[in-house]
Amino acid sequence: MNKNIILIGFMGSGKSTLARALSKKLNLKLLDTDALIKERCGLSVKEIFKQKGEEFFRNEEKKLALELENMRGFVVSTGGGFYQFLRANDRDSVIYLRADFEFLKNRLSKKGLTKRPLFKDEEAARSLFNARLAEYEKKATHIIDIKNKSVLQIVSEIKKRI
Ligand code: S3P
Repeated sequence: MNKNIILIGFMGSGKSTLARALSKKLNLKLLDTDALIKERCGLSVKEIFKQKGEEFFRNEEKKLALELENMRGFVVSTGGGFYQFLRANDRDSVIYLRADFEFLKNRLSKKGLTKRPLFKDEEAARSLFNARLAEYEKKATHIIDIKNKSVLQIVSEIKKRI
């Protein structure tokens, strides 16, 4: 495939799980931006935020978004804030996995919540969600409502639409 399929959306929207399933189904390579940044820094996302600060993390995301512009044939699972560094092009499919805040919050386990520095405070996370809603929609070439759908259902919906 001569393009990338990039999954964007808020924390808890299942980007990593879906990207894995989609890459298998379409026989495409898989790239997980958080995992790659972790590997490059030798630290967990939580530790990067703590030791180096959010700005450092965002800069790593920005560099990766630029690298992605020269790559093809990847299903990309992004961190919830990565979307801001994506520049529009006529090639890639940018898929926003959409759901409401309560649904996403309830999907994250206790462990999932503690791993995510921006979900430490629920009200702050809710504000961030509200602030990003329109931005995700603007960046997306396709919007998929994920609420109460299985991975299989979402994968087949994405496959039909790209
Ligand atoms: C972030 C989401 C996280 C991770 C980091 C920042 C965000 O990824 O990149 O904690 O800004 O929304 P997930 O969306 O995979 O949880």
